[in-house]
Amino acid sequence: MADALLTFDNVDVTFPRRGPPVEALKGVSFEIKHGGSLGIIGDSGAGKSTICRVAEGLVRPSAGRIVIDGVDMTQASEREWQKARRHISLVFQDAQGSFNPMRPVVDSIGMPLMSYTDAGKAELRRKVGEVMEQVGLSATQMTRYPHEFSGGQVQRLAIARALITRPRLVLFDEPVSALDVSIRAQILNLLTDLAKSLSLTYVVISSDPSVARHLSQDMIVLFAGKVIERAPTQQLFANPQHGYTLSLLSLRDPQLAARAELARLEDAALADLGKGVPS
Ligand SMILES: Nc1ncnc2c1ncn2[C@@H]1O[C@H](COP(=O)(O)OP(=O)(O)OP(=O)(O)O)[C@@H](O)[C@H]1O
Ligand SMILES: [Mg+2]
Repeated sequence: MADALLTFDNVDVTFPRRGPPVEALKGVSFEIKHGGSLGIIGDSGAGKSTICRVAEGLVRPSAGRIVIDGVDMTQASEREWQKARRHISLVFQDAQGSFNPMRPVVDSIGMPLMSYTDAGKAELRRKVGEVMEQVGLSATQMTRYPHEFSGGQVQRLAIARALITRPRLVLFDEPVSALDVSIRAQILNLLTDLAKSLSLTYVVISSDPSVARHLSQDMIVLFAGKVIERAPTQQLFANPQHGYTLSLLSLRDPQLAARAELARLEDAALADLGKGVPS
């Protein structure tokens, strides 16, 4: 078994559009080992969700390699991608919108299993019930419709749907951004517990660095499609190397905000000094 479960090696993604194409990812490289966790932080439009779509094979890179469990997926056929996709689950950025409002949730949660196994209806319901309990819901709620659940509960449903296939890799795209602050902590704690009890390997994407900090061992910082910093999470927070990282982290941390302001003032002072030096 390869050491890394997922590797991005110098990946470019370009989306065509009228006018110049959008370069959503530029030379992105990282790897996640089996049992590891990676946080991806960056502003809106930085390319975070695109990384998920590439990892799922929904978007093909224009350059670079994606390696899953030792297999170069850039050379893989659609059939091989389908096989690999069985082991990768995505929790969508918009949990509510990812459920069919016309169907009871048992159908949506069971859907990923239905595509991969020929389990009968009773077996399917048993598994849906089991995974619902695992995320802190009751199996008796499976016949309800999505609108009958609160925002936090829908997020739990989305997590249940992602876990039902017992995936090797889970991609959480903004798992708490749509939730009230009071509910966020509950979902973060649930994810922490599940990661431990199921030994998950996962990617967690967030524009809020504290979410990724809570959940991931390693982090990368994306800026305009490029990885500008990559480090173990503790190190990144203790000693951010890039000015952008510092400003991103300081958005919610007054101490770091003071450091970022100091760095800005020093830069301005140095620039002024530079102007005063005769050439
Ligand atoms: N299918 C597409 N066609 C054209 N451009 C796209 C497509 N998907 C994404 N983009 C563009 O690629 C860039 C990265 O988008 P992406 O959704 O990955 O950002 P993000 O970091 O997830 O942002 P957010 O935090 O807002 O979710 C953006 O400029 C976006 O407009
Ligand atoms: Mg996104």
